[in-house]
Order: sequence, then structure tokens, then C-alpha cells
Amino acid sequence: MRPQISVFLGTVVSFVCAQGFNGDWDVAYAKATTTLAKLSTSEKVGLVTGIGWGKGPCTGNTSPLTSINFRTLCLQDGPLGVRSTTGITAFPPGIQAASTWDRSLMYDRGHGIGEETKTLGINVILGPVCGPLGEFAQGGRNWEGFSSDPYLAGVATEQTIGGIQDAGAQACAKHFIGNEQERGRETMNSVIDDRTMHELYLWPFAEAVNANVAAVMCSYNKIGGSWACENQHTINELLKTELGFRGYVVTDWNAGHSNTGAANAGLDMGMPGTDSTGKNPFWGSALQSAIGSGVPSTRLDDMVTRILASWYLTKQDSGYPAIGVTAKGGGSGRNVQTANHTATARAVARDGIVLLKNSGNLLPLQKPKSIAIIGSGAVANPQGINSCIDFGCDTGTLVQGWGSGSVTLPFLSAPADAITTRAKTDGTTVTTSATDTASQGSSAAQSADVAIVFITADSGEEYIVVEKNTGDRNDLEAWHNGADLVKAVAGVNKNTIVVVNTVGPILLEAFADLPNVKAIVWAGLPGEEAGDALVDVLYGSVSPSGKLPYTIAKVASDYGTAIQTGSDTFSEGLFIDYRHFDKSNIAPRYEFGFGLSYTTFNYSNITITGSPTSGTASGTIVPGGSSSLFDTVATVTAIVTNSGSVTGAEVAQLYIGLPSAAPSSPIRQLRGFQKVSIPAGASTPVTFNVRRKDLSYWDTTAKAWTVPQGSFTISVGASSRDIRLTGSIRAS
Ligand code: BGC
Repeated sequence: MRPQISVFLGTVVSFVCAQGFNGDWDVAYAKATTTLAKLSTSEKVGLVTGIGWGKGPCTGNTSPLTSINFRTLCLQDGPLGVRSTTGITAFPPGIQAASTWDRSLMYDRGHGIGEETKTLGINVILGPVCGPLGEFAQGGRNWEGFSSDPYLAGVATEQTIGGIQDAGAQACAKHFIGNEQERGRETMNSVIDDRTMHELYLWPFAEAVNANVAAVMCSYNKIGGSWACENQHTINELLKTELGFRGYVVTDWNAGHSNTGAANAGLDMGMPGTDSTGKNPFWGSALQSAIGSGVPSTRLDDMVTRILASWYLTKQDSGYPAIGVTAKGGGSGRNVQTANHTATARAVARDGIVLLKNSGNLLPLQKPKSIAIIGSGAVANPQGINSCIDFGCDTGTLVQGWGSGSVTLPFLSAPADAITTRAKTDGTTVTTSATDTASQGSSAAQSADVAIVFITADSGEEYIVVEKNTGDRNDLEAWHNGADLVKAVAGVNKNTIVVVNTVGPILLEAFADLPNVKAIVWAGLPGEEAGDALVDVLYGSVSPSGKLPYTIAKVASDYGTAIQTGSDTFSEGLFIDYRHFDKSNIAPRYEFGFGLSYTTFNYSNITITGSPTSGTASGTIVPGGSSSLFDTVATVTAIVTNSGSVTGAEVAQLYIGLPSAAPSSPIRQLRGFQKVSIPAGASTPVTFNVRRKDLSYWDTTAKAWTVPQGSFTISVGASSRDIRLTGSIRAS
């Protein structure tokens, strides 16, 4: 455990568990090796192979091993909670957790997911997602993950895994690697240069390994011409050798393409197993036949050892609960929600809300006489909150995207209901117009003091097509002509508040500058607690404190990337999201890291200490890479003062610019952040511990992380473009 303490001028106010999972792999391997000796070859093959799609209670199931009293390994989706069952908490998706920039909430969310996973007897939860990272703003599954910035995604990945595995479940970081879009995901080839691979796409997986993640799921696509689940370079060289990963690699469902090639490239587990039509004829008996003729038996032993070691590592070998889910999605009837989990879900939903605009301080609301609530996104899906399979529709309040990363909602706090309940306490009259038709919206809005308009944008996994979007979004517009609805409402109401529920950036140019659009509230993907969390912010029981985990552009082409057909050459290299906007000097509408509060913050007193040495990383390989990468080599501190009149939380951000000795690098990159809650008038220090890795670039000639010689720019600020303090540090 590596506790961080933040202090209000002498008073300890928060204690943040900044950590991955502390497990002892050596002890786990010793136990696994002893157990391995008791297994026959067919039992070993049974442990590394799924029993077939839909045949067991879980998304993925291995054969029971009676000789060692091992019931079966149960693997279940997904990244925001337990899928395909009832009575669980529908936590906000990963992107909302990232939007909080709050390490302890990320951890708590992971812990809640892990507890529900364990209580239902599931061994492995198939999350978190840190690939896709976000090469494309339109990428269908970005919302399952955290952020297009690898550092933020890496911290969120580490915290989530820490939470899940501390609760006793195994986490599975997915999808490894280069699966950045849904279009053609099972055929496309991702060609990623070595530096971009290390500095962007591999980075959060390295943090996952550093957090002792039990499993990693290889993806559907090819990388450099070879399938992700039989890729020597990515599995054996990068993941297992360079990062020192000691857990197991499991295929995405039906992502296996061979036996000998995959086994020798480092694949450990094939899922979901051959089905009755013969689909996915890999692993199982086919793998068994290859043992001794192409696949050494030591490789099979290694697969088994890794799976058993992960089971021992997370202490699942005694007293693990009985499986409480069924393949038909019926569940056990067990309600595994707890008051803590509900509170965490609400806190993540609330603290992930980003206030983008607040002209004339219209927010927080001050007992308006009347409110008009407008838009289909304000109310629960009239057909029922779980009426669309895997959330494959954008009807009613949007709280998660669609696909295997969605869960069954136990309930939904719909915004219109929550606002109406709250408004009653002020004697405010509320009218609701739950359609997206502009004329109806404007007639509802015209006589109200305040109009709150809800708009949405959705995406998901490619096996469901929603409103002609095959997973990835076709464009970055609000759905259902949302911009026209906002313009119509703002045309008649001078206190228009826009609430956006979305999977990622949408274009706001059509209305963001309209004087009657007083406020824009980026409510993201809030999960079950959507309405209550929104009311907390709209009425000011808390100040908004979320910051954007991606850039909101003025036009789609400003991102410089677009969904590909066939191969993806990753030609933009390191320059995705703000790295690209900064390099090409493009003004975004709202930059990465941006978010307003009901108070204001001043920054002062930057200090920079440390004497990093240039050169390549050294040391033994620990989970995550060379041990020296994780050494703190510099410390930056500053004081943040709440200069306004209400309590608020600020996310202080550290950006670092590399010296010119590091060729063609981004102007600045996020390398630290700290969220601090500060009463009005008070000050608190913020501290950023800069690791060697945070000052390094990937030197493709040396094939090593290298700290370049020269002067680094150190910037501390409230967003990637609102830099308040600067300094520098030299590496000699
Ligand atoms: C998805 C995975 C998921 C698996 C099992 C695949 O289609 O890509 O994320 O875990 O299905 O449902």
C-alpha cells in the first residue's frame, strides 16, 4: 500500500489508497507448481479451455478438476459491473470514473465491482478496459475504458484492478492490443510503430501489470500482420518478457486462430471453447494433439501454472462462494448491491460531471419558479429500463453504451424524476416534454424560468447496430437532432441549460456560444444514479469537480484521425487528442482536463526538487517493466487556494514537456494529477511524485525507456491549456 495524504494547512483531510494489488506471485507460483504435479494432461487442457459458448453458468467456464477440488473457473463480463444477472449495481462506466480524476473513487468503484463479483462466486471479471485507448473520437467502445490519455487511463486501470483484486476477484485487463475501432475488428490489421506502442497503447497495460493484474485478454485484430492472440511480439516479447507479466492471457471470445502458433506465442487460455457447430475449433482436444508435436509440454505446464497462480494470488483457493449466475442470465436471486456500492455509484456519477459553461452563474439553481425539462433523454426508456438487449438502443436516459460492457440496471434514477422531486421542495413548478421534437421543446420552454434540455450520443460493440451506427459512431453530432432541439429551446428561453449524456465528445458549435445557452453540463455516462447525481450538481449540494478525459473539438476533422477500413496504420503516431491539438495549434472548444466549478482556485508556490539522471532504465524486471521506471526521481509541489465562496474540489494537473534530445515529442503530456477538496478561503498543498518513466521516452534504437538529457518543462494547471505555474528540471 502506498498511502498519499493530503493536508489542509496542517489538517489531514483525505487518505487516498493510491495502489494496485499487493499480491505475492512467488508464493502463488510455488503453490501452483505443487498443484500442477497432480494433474493429468487432459485435466491441464481442461483448465486452459472453455467448455463451449452458453454451456456453463458464466460468460466463460473451464472444466472442473476433481483431483484438486477445483470447481471450474468462472469468467464473466464486464467492466462496469456483473453482466447478465439482476440484483447488481450498475456502476458508471470507465469513462465516467476517469472523468472524476479521483483515485479513491476509481479504487472504490473497482472494489465494489470486485465484491459483487466475488459474492456471486465469479472468479474473473472481464475488465477493466484500457484498449481501446481512444485513437478515434468515434471509437465504439471508448466509453468502456477510461481516457485517450495513457497516464490517466493507466492510473484508472491500476486503481480499478487494485479495488477488484483486493475484494478477492481476478481482474482481466482488455483488449490487448490495437483494437481501437469496432468496424472490421475481427479482420483488421493494426500497424503500430514501436514508440507509439510503448508511449500510448501499451502504457496502461504496463500499469495493469504493475498492479498485479491476474489476466489479460488478447483482442480480435491483427497487429503487424499477426493475430493478437497468437502474436509473438505483443504477448511473449512485450507483455510477458518486457513487462514481466506473470498471470495468464485469455482470448477474446472466438479470437483464437491456431493451436501451435498461439501456444508458442504465449496464449494461455482459449475462450469460450468450441461450440456445437464446430466454431472456434481451437484449444481443447486440438491443443492436446499438438502437445509434443509442435507445442512442448512445458508450455502447457506454463499455461496451467499461470492460471493456478492467479487463483492462488487472489486467494480463491479456499472459501470462495458458489456460482450465483446462470447462462440464461437469471442470476441467483441474490441481491449483491450494498449501500456502499450505491453510494460509490452516485459519487462517481456526480463527481464525473463536468461543468463546461455557466454564464452569469445560472447554476446552481436558486429556487426557480418554474422549470421545463425537455428531451427524451430526461426520462427512463418508456418500454422499460432494461427493454433493449445489451442496451442496444438510445431510448430514454443514456447511462451506459451498448454491448458486452453493459449490465442490467437494478433501478434507474431518471433525471426528470429526480429534478421533479427536488424542485417540489422549493415549490418550483415542473413541466416535462419527453420528446426530441424541436417545436414541442420550444413550446414547453417558452414560459418557464429555466429550461433543461437533455441530449445524447451513444455507441457500443459491433454486434448490435443502433440507429445505423455499427458500434463506432458515424459522426460526432448529438443524436436525434439534439442540436436543433437545443437551438429551438434557446430561441425562446433565456435560461437554457444543456445536459449532455454521451459516450465521448460531441460537437457543440451549433449552440455553445448562444447567449441563452447559459450552462452546459457534461453528465457523461452516469449508470443507475443518473438523476440523483445530476441533482446534486444542478442544485449545488456539491460543486461540480469533473474534468474532461478527452478533448471536445470544434469540428470532427480537428481530431486528425478517423475510423479506418482494412488496416490501421496509426499514422498519427503519438499525436492523438490533446497531443495533436497542441502540435497542430488547433483551438479546441473545450480542452482535455477542462472543467468549471462553483468556486475558483488559485495556484501558487511551485517547487521542483530532484536530480534525475539521463539514460536508459535499468534494474530487474518487476511487474510492469524495469524496476527503476517506478522510482520517484522528482517531486513537484504547489499550493491550491479556494478563492471563491463555496467548498469545491480541484484537480491539479501536472504536464511535462521533454527536452529536444527526445525527438518529435508532444509539447506537453499529463504526468500527474491530484484532486483536493478545499473549503472556501482555505489552501492545500498538492504533490506530484514523478517517476523515472514519467520523464522517459521510448528510444527505438536502444529499445529502452530513456530519460533524455536537458531541461524539462514542468507545468501545473487546471487543464491542459490553463497552465498556472511553470518551472523546469534538468536531467544531467
Ligand atoms: C468482447 C469482450 C467480451 C467477450 C465476452 C467479446 O465480444 O469483445 O469484451 O468480454 O465478448 O462477452
